[in-house]
Amino acid sequence: MGLNILQKSKIKKGMRIFLRVDCNVPLSGRKVKEESAWRLEQTLQDIREYQKRGAIVVLAGHLGRPDGQTKLTLSLKPVARWYEKKLGCELSFEKNILSDKAVSRIKDLRAGSIIMLENLRFYKEEENDNYGFAKKLSRLADIYVNNAFGVCHREHASIHAITKYLPSYAGSVVIEEVENLSRPRAFPFVLVLGGIKLNTKMPILLKLGKEADEILVGGGVALAISSVEQGEVLQISGVDISRNERMLARQVMKKFADKLVSPIDYIAIRDAKVQTILASNLKRSDQLIDIGLSTQRLFKASVKNAKSIVYNGCLGSLVTGAESGTQSIAQALPIKNKIQSIVGGGDTVGFLQSKNLLSHFSFVSTGGGAMLAYLAGKKLPGLEVLEKK
Ligand code: 3PG
Repeated sequence: MGLNILQKSKIKKGMRIFLRVDCNVPLSGRKVKEESAWRLEQTLQDIREYQKRGAIVVLAGHLGRPDGQTKLTLSLKPVARWYEKKLGCELSFEKNILSDKAVSRIKDLRAGSIIMLENLRFYKEEENDNYGFAKKLSRLADIYVNNAFGVCHREHASIHAITKYLPSYAGSVVIEEVENLSRPRAFPFVLVLGGIKLNTKMPILLKLGKEADEILVGGGVALAISSVEQGEVLQISGVDISRNERMLARQVMKKFADKLVSPIDYIAIRDAKVQTILASNLKRSDQLIDIGLSTQRLFKASVKNAKSIVYNGCLGSLVTGAESGTQSIAQALPIKNKIQSIVGGGDTVGFLQSKNLLSHFSFVSTGGGAMLAYLAGKKLPGLEVLEKK
């Protein structure tokens, strides 16, 4: 895919750059959780470059899903403070992002200044891909750069409609994602899928499952399969695996019978005690914590043998936060890019970052849903508008 790339030489002193970033990161109170700031860190490189060249950087993003309402707990102020600390310079903050005052304030900024806009999703027009809203945003800048790969699967105004009004380019995060996610896979190829719901993993499963030599499953995805295998409605975080999930599990089991590896044992709470329970013995009342140790051994042997891996979703229950399965599988991967190992998904990456395990992967995607959509072969609206004509 050929994307419009901004030549550094085109960045002029005083040029206003609307830089869309994916700053949807967990907060702890009024602060960005440092151990989960992976996505933000990836955006620093371009900001520094633009600043060095004297541009005025207008940082824009979203936090959470405020549904078009102003919610102070989802203000981007803590993110602005995080950037300020990392960039070592003062950052202005603009609350009234559609006002004429904001336009003149930005015009008056000194070359090399950075200003952050309040959460775009405080306006319902953002998620509606409203062109009038996008046009108003476009008044704040001379050019548009999308560095928010994690949001490129959304047809939202600051990702899609805005490109109608400004010369538009892909930032380095987006370029790197596209390059890495489109690399052909080497074989044996192992697909590792966890997370809560099987239905969100179906598109990637159907696409990459065909190519994969083995599909290892954990989390809710595995429980849906174990539910069918045992003929017992199992639960994840106290909620039944739905009929739809079990129906999807049946489809997957039929289609990939020769390569699907589901857990043989689980760590779960039964009778108020943490114990290892064989998959064949699971009961509805068991509370899943993680995949069991025999399953971990099995999975580790598979990934050690792989030449490429795509990994998405935690293998245990995020509610309990145990995740020894996710941890031990990541530890089993060879470090230093010996194989192509791609990981994505906000929770998975956050967890691996907190355990210092990201270095075990050759590429860490900033996308959750966007990575899944891209790898499933879907067209991403945010990328389509950046394609070279
Ligand atoms: C993400 O966290 O995956 C992106 O920021 C997109 O967020 P969304 O799923 O709320 O659109």
